Amino acid sequence: MVKIERLRTVDIISKKRDGESLSKAEIDFFIDGYVKGQIPDYQAAALLMAIYLKGMDSRETADLTMAMVESGDRVDLTAIKGIKVDKHSTGGVGDTTTLIVAPLVAACGVPVAKMSGRGLGHTGGTLDKLESIPGFRTELSKADFIAAVNKVGLAVIGQSKGLVPADSLLYALRDVTATVASLPLIASSIMSKKIAAGAGGLVLDVKTGSGAFMETREDAFDLAREMVKIGERLAMNTTAIITDMNQPLGLAVGNALEVKEAISILRGLGEEGPLKAVSLLLAAHMIYTGAGCTAIDEGKAMAKDALESGRGLDKLAEMIRVQGGDARVVDDISLLPQAKHIMPVTADMEGYIASIDTEMVGTVASILGAGRTRKDQKIDPAVGLVLKKRLGDKVKKGEELALFHLNDRDRFDQAQDLFKRAIRIGAKASGPCPLVYGTVTREGEKHFS
Ligand code: URA
Ligand code: CA
Repeated sequence: MVKIERLRTVDIISKKRDGESLSKAEIDFFIDGYVKGQIPDYQAAALLMAIYLKGMDSRETADLTMAMVESGDRVDLTAIKGIKVDKHSTGGVGDTTTLIVAPLVAACGVPVAKMSGRGLGHTGGTLDKLESIPGFRTELSKADFIAAVNKVGLAVIGQSKGLVPADSLLYALRDVTATVASLPLIASSIMSKKIAAGAGGLVLDVKTGSGAFMETREDAFDLAREMVKIGERLAMNTTAIITDMNQPLGLAVGNALEVKEAISILRGLGEEGPLKAVSLLLAAHMIYTGAGCTAIDEGKAMAKDALESGRGLDKLAEMIRVQGGDARVVDDISLLPQAKHIMPVTADMEGYIASIDTEMVGTVASILGAGRTRKDQKIDPAVGLVLKKRLGDKVKKGEELALFHLNDRDRFDQAQDLFKRAIRIGAKASGPCPLVYGTVTREGEKHFS
């Protein structure tokens, strides 16, 4: 037996400061003490900074993940038959994949019991998007949640309060101590929530580029590798796909606007672009992880068929109905909130779209009212923007770059100024922008470009 009462926080901090590995007992002592309020913020902040600077090995990161899981409740999904597969994206702009992927996967017979979060800062959140559907409820009791998944094959609800309290506390502290962008801290934060939410398998979409936490490809692969390793140690089959976030994934950025885009893709009418491509790829990996097929290519064909046959759209409608929403929106998107004004933003010069600061585009949508900078802020479901041009596209002077949807015209000028700074128009056409950089699974890695 380890006598954990003999541990002292200051010794744990100095050990990590000097680059040593922490034991499981030390990590448990820290997480337990911090969540109980026995360890003060200043010591926790010092340890976070030491972890940020010195890192953690895979064993420490897995121990930290489990200590965080054990700080709160765990969701028991054993009443749902089959392998429950979850997905997680490391944060994006115009990333509506959940609303497309979850219905497609459910339509292929793999159950999806998903807990999603709200948007913060420049990124959107699935819960906010779903709540733009009239009547849709994201708070279901545990029994109703399980009943909905057993009936429909999918349900998407808000993350319950008691899930991983250590993450809520640590995330708030990291935010104000410049320790967010730490590989072991991000990996344990994401993986602890997925394990606590009861998933049996997980497909991660790790973003890299101007809108992502991990701006370089190397960092994104490192993060992916670490999370796949944690999954392996903790018996949750995990696959990571590394995808591009150098431009918004879909054309729409904003809650109801993104729901409309997801519906149009499920109707076969949307852009043949990155949102659809990444959605089909994620769906294929989820179907494979959930043992709905025996090869990724088979999963791809199944996902494509679910989309083209309209079965994915039917599943989305069924989910909306069971969760109290107006399912007619899938046939008539005008039933979703509409902004009062639609105003174009046009190009000041001729050329090619050379780069897009994706994080800034997310901030533009926030300025229009689609996002929040504090957790308690209200958002406007109707507003946001729809891009008319993508990276590499040719533009003429005066041509539309985007349409802003807004209810408050006073916000236009500020949003337009920032948007024009985010879009750089160059004289020469650049090469095509890759979409998928590779995958990391427990069997190994693939690099595509
Ligand atoms: N997303 C999370 O949930 N946690 C992090 O630390 C970073 C991104
Ligand atoms: Ca979108």
